[in-house]
Amino acid sequence: MKKENIYILGIESSCDDTSAAVLCNNTILSNVVADQKIHAEYGGVVPELASRAHQQNIVPVVHQALEKAGINKDQLSAVAFTRGPGLMGSLLVGTSFAKSLAYGLDIPLIDVNHMQAHILAHFIEEKDHKIPPFPFLAMTISGGHTQIVKVNNHFNMEVIGETIDDAVGEAYDKSGKILGLGYPAGPEIDRRAQLGNPKAFQFTKPKVDGLNFSFSGLKTNILYFVQRQVKTNPNFIEENLNDICASIQFTIIGILMSKLKLAVKETGIKHIAIGGGVSANSGIRKALKDAEQNFGWTSYVPKFEYTTDNAAMIAIVGYLKYLQKDFSNFDVMATARLKI
Ligand code: KG4
Ligand code: ZN
Repeated sequence: MKKENIYILGIESSCDDTSAAVLCNNTILSNVVADQKIHAEYGGVVPELASRAHQQNIVPVVHQALEKAGINKDQLSAVAFTRGPGLMGSLLVGTSFAKSLAYGLDIPLIDVNHMQAHILAHFIEEKDHKIPPFPFLAMTISGGHTQIVKVNNHFNMEVIGETIDDAVGEAYDKSGKILGLGYPAGPEIDRRAQLGNPKAFQFTKPKVDGLNFSFSGLKTNILYFVQRQVKTNPNFIEENLNDICASIQFTIIGILMSKLKLAVKETGIKHIAIGGGVSANSGIRKALKDAEQNFGWTSYVPKFEYTTDNAAMIAIVGYLKYLQKDFSNFDVMATARLKI
């Protein structure tokens, strides 16, 4: 007997991207993302503006996702949404919308942890994408998080290391601000890093025990360094921008890789997956490729589309939970601080 197709609508609204995606089993039919340019003027996400923009975007984004997928809302099997972690005002928009839609259609509602979703995005079936075997290590690197997670199975995950202050994406964005770059600065620093000399300037690496990370000292180190240089040469930044970016990237990737090496040593697991906005970074992608050659690791890097926030990753978790009939009650609440 042929199995019936399962169609999941995923909704993501945890930060500043409003996204909706439709999945047929574990393949993507559509993944629509409306990012919010408004925050660039302020040099960071303004929660109240994000929440308002989600309210404006959510209906057209869901509509487009269904249209692109070529399915009717009555064909949906369930609605999956981001419960947390994230900005409360933003989460509330997606949560209320998902609840009303699932209730109206009389189909299951499925709540999803955003950080689990960054990891489980690897289970979306794609041409030429290999799916990691259990157990594997996942490093989630984004604007809000930096964690190393031991993934025992889809829903059994242990955080074995995390940042004690700033996230790695914040380190990129705050360094960019010091250098006068726009927000978010990660992609621009990455682009310039590929044109500069990574050994031009040296920044101190934080000393944090075990598998935890710290990035706030690096930001201060970069700030004082730049201030000192600008005193003697007011054009220092413009004249050395690519080299400064390359040196920052070299330091950050060095920190991430040294913690990953330690995690591999401690767990004996050599299957490494990355997720989150910073997993788009060329430096970490290259370092992982090199580690395959040098240390026999196997690395799993998401398609670009699934690195920054997106609803496809929410929908795949929805599908995996649907298979287990792990549905939510309609009184489920958005939760700003939600642990893996
Ligand atoms: O996962 P994400 O979209 O949102 C959060 O959940 O935070 O990640 C956004 C972060 C920003 O800090 C941005 O600067 C960073 O990802 N980012 C990058 C790159 N692309 C995005 N950082 C370094 N290199 C990149 N290519
Ligand atoms: Zn994210």
